[in-house]
Amino acid sequence: MSKILVEGGPRLTGTLRTLGAKNAVLKEIVSTLLAPGRHHLTNVPSILDVELMARVLEHTGCRIEHGDHELWIVVPDEPRPEAPIELVRQMRASIVVLGPLLARCGEARVALPGGDDLGARPIEMHMQGLEQMGASFELIHGELVGRIDGRLKGTEIELPFPSVGATENLIFGGVLAEGETVIVNAAREPEIQDLIAQLNSMGADIRGSGTSLVTITGVEGLVPVEHKVLPDRLEAGTYAVAGAITRGDVTVTGCHPDHLRMELTKLEAAGCEVERGNGWLRVIGPERPEPIDFATLPYPGFHTDMQPQMVALLSLSTGTSVITENIYDARYRYVGELARMGADISIEAQHAIIRGVHGLSGCPVLAPDIRAGAALVLAGLAAEGVTEVSNPSHIDRGYEDFVGRLSSLGARIERS
Ligand code: EPU
Repeated sequence: MSKILVEGGPRLTGTLRTLGAKNAVLKEIVSTLLAPGRHHLTNVPSILDVELMARVLEHTGCRIEHGDHELWIVVPDEPRPEAPIELVRQMRASIVVLGPLLARCGEARVALPGGDDLGARPIEMHMQGLEQMGASFELIHGELVGRIDGRLKGTEIELPFPSVGATENLIFGGVLAEGETVIVNAAREPEIQDLIAQLNSMGADIRGSGTSLVTITGVEGLVPVEHKVLPDRLEAGTYAVAGAITRGDVTVTGCHPDHLRMELTKLEAAGCEVERGNGWLRVIGPERPEPIDFATLPYPGFHTDMQPQMVALLSLSTGTSVITENIYDARYRYVGELARMGADISIEAQHAIIRGVHGLSGCPVLAPDIRAGAALVLAGLAAEGVTEVSNPSHIDRGYEDFVGRLSSLGARIERS
């Protein structure tokens, strides 16, 4: 079993260039299903989840060619409309094939993802929206079998919560539907804006990108294009916290600091010096962070996927911070691991109460999911002694060469 070994101490300094965004590229791979032919994606990060999504598409009959941070996807005239449990289980995001397969094939057989390390994660909003557009679903032996009669039909769908995945599935459903689809209370994440840009350049007619009212006029067909994936704000944010937690000085280039507005504001409130410009940001960490409070919320609120990294930082602060997690019901599972390193954190319902301590001490810990895994490595960078993070494949799902990139900033880190 491979592990990441990190020896705390060094201040991280230097510059890193942001790679492409995981949560955009995964959906941009799927959106190619909507148009037969040869698609080209550039700025593709070399991460495990991209491999898994490529396998999902291969299962539908697509041919994938890999290049250096680019992918070519050749989509057949008649994709096979199914995503099997072996793949869906490894990556819940596979559920976004539902909309494109229904739209292209008139049916979709997608294994039901079930919950994961972040909680129950139901998908009723995806299904109810597609049902309003004329799809019907049956659950047969753990597989969701969806069908439509003719084309999906545009209609107005009001989401009870701005779910990222449901917004994406409904956009996918709407682009080839008959008439106009209106999504009220749509998610506004930059990754969805990038997906809309890709779809519009394929010939879709989607308006309201970046707002909570997205209107889609269905078209007869789409064409393959070349698309460059936007920079990963979560990768940029994670390296910013690496600078902060080591009292370091880290510059991240090739990113959009605007996409991390709330997270950078909170880093400043915690005593970091933050500079930002067009396409770059720089974070200089304080001797010890100050305590702050924040609540995770849909974009443009504080991103839940930056919560564990921030909790690692605040575990070393000079006072008590209160964090409220509003997106997931089980996002604090990693806190027990941080506590083993000496953090003083109690959980009450969706709140984490973090009493800052003077230091953490390295020990063996287990990475429970992508972001918590990254956060434990960050804690290890600041801890005394060696932290041994097991299950690093979780980190590989979302971060390209995490160990190599941290070591380029001066971290004492290796993979065993
Ligand atoms: N939800 C429902 N019903 C639904 C849909 C969602 O109850 O029908 C709940 C979920 O259970 C969850 C919350 O709503 O508690 C948010 O879910 P959402 O649909 O917005 O998230 P997602 O599409 O499943 C994406 C990212 C996550 C990120 C969230 C929130 C991808 C592949 N995943 O998930 O990224 O945390 O949006 O921004 O885009 C990560 O990168 O580490 C990660 C987990």
